[in-house]
Amino acid sequence: MKIKNICCIGAGYVGGPTMSVLAQKNPDIKITVVDINQDRINSWNDENLNDLPIYEPGLKEIVNEARDRNLFFHTDVEKAIDEADMIFISVNTPTKTYGKGKGMAADLKYVELCARQIAKVAKSDKIVVEKSTLPVRTAQAIKNILDNTGSGVKFQILSNPEFLAEGTAIQDLLHPDRVLIGGEESPEGKEAIDALVEIYATWIPKEKILTTNVWSSELSKLVANAFLAQRVSSINAISELCEVTGADVNEVSRAIGMDSRIGPKFLKSSVGFGGSCFQKDILNLVYIAKTYGLHEVADYWEQVIIMNDHQKRRFADNIVSTLYNTVSGKKITFLGWAFKKDTNDTRESAAIYVADALMNEQAEITVYDPKVSEERIYEDLDYLGTRSPEENRKLLKVVKEPYEACNESHAIAILTEWDEFKEYDWQKIYDSVIKPAFIFDGRKLLNPKEIKEIGFEYYAIGS
Ligand code: NAD
Ligand code: UDX
Repeated sequence: MKIKNICCIGAGYVGGPTMSVLAQKNPDIKITVVDINQDRINSWNDENLNDLPIYEPGLKEIVNEARDRNLFFHTDVEKAIDEADMIFISVNTPTKTYGKGKGMAADLKYVELCARQIAKVAKSDKIVVEKSTLPVRTAQAIKNILDNTGSGVKFQILSNPEFLAEGTAIQDLLHPDRVLIGGEESPEGKEAIDALVEIYATWIPKEKILTTNVWSSELSKLVANAFLAQRVSSINAISELCEVTGADVNEVSRAIGMDSRIGPKFLKSSVGFGGSCFQKDILNLVYIAKTYGLHEVADYWEQVIIMNDHQKRRFADNIVSTLYNTVSGKKITFLGWAFKKDTNDTRESAAIYVADALMNEQAEITVYDPKVSEERIYEDLDYLGTRSPEENRKLLKVVKEPYEACNESHAIAILTEWDEFKEYDWQKIYDSVIKPAFIFDGRKLLNPKEIKEIGFEYYAIGS
């Protein structure tokens, strides 16, 4: 079966870049990315490409090449579903904020809405691909909805989780470690799997395209994120031990990472992991384990989150205790708000929680981030509901220039590992801040020797 027309529901961090690369590599397939958010679609269609809704290195060039050739963005979801032979569901699956499983389970209402809309609109057979990260066995629920339309239309459901990381999305999509496709073991299931394999095989070596049953594929996505996050929490746990023993966490990471069984990646100690995926997916895994009565399994994975919360809290606590146990009325500069460098995404960023803790102590925070908007930062704080929007705007200011952000500061905290922070004139910054001059480096980004020589009191995670 040769796919000619693809629809992707959800033009977000996953749908947008994934379909852009798919379109670039398959110029003979028409790909339509649809979303209910008109503003987002308008941004994707921005004529001079300066206003794309997400920032990813390399994305602009690919959109420029494929858009209006075989890649289209619009809001007519039903038309796109009707025309497609393959439909990717790439909508958000946030943690539930209400009802059963509140704070843990994935909220599947957007996915279910997509399934119902497909069921309503489809007049010809379709392959439905789960691109969103979903709890294991969700395909069963989607299948139940699609198989009960009475329209005679046949559906095949595939699981094809996305492993891209933000900031490196394009490189990850162009050169993935693997592509995972789960499908039914029937002849029709095999045919659907093959159709999707062919699309990826236009640029990815076949040996990297892994096919499994649907449940393994769905579960593997949650497990991959849980393992990655677990490594960060493991090294962060060790960072606290380093701080009290005189060991240096970077040296420990290097020493253990050279063991090929451990490997060097994801051993960078930090102020805590953020992002829209790790916490949400682990909580989801914990919830699933609890649902099956596997309490030891649930507790084991929950500890990854507990450690991460502890890491964020103790970073804030250390700032307060070092600044003579009070930050009330003191200006604290945050360099970075994004959850990692090279993205404008701030979801679950450690910066939000560290700021909130310091604002509880009446600190006055000034934030500089090269890619995150002022509006986004206030939305993040308002969403927490700790204090009124007016108070948030009174206690926290956002500036567009890093030297201005640092001017007359009592302390500088580095929350995101943006490369440009390394290149600043730190002597100039030192001259402009209140003495003693403090830096709290939540990313171990700066050179301790140089910074201390200038005169800063320098505190970095894990040393
Ligand atoms: P996102 O919030 O950026 O985008 C989702 C989009 O879906 C939104 O623009 C929303 O308006 C749209 N949408 C929701 N319901 C819709 C509907 N019924 N019809 C049309 N559009 C609808 O989310 P994201 O970061 O792209 O994540 C999507 C999924 O991919 C999630 O399940 C996530 O866990 C998974 N994932 C994300 C990443 C990542 O790095 N962000 C990586 C791998 C997997
Ligand atoms: C993650 C997974 O890596 C990706 O495969 C999945 O598809 C989505 O979730 P993402 O959240 O975009 O990607 O970024 P990632 O690079 O994994 O970083 C997540 C968080 O962990 C960031 O806050 C990052 O700063 C932090 N981190 C990562 C560390 O603190 N130390 C590390 O060694 C690695």
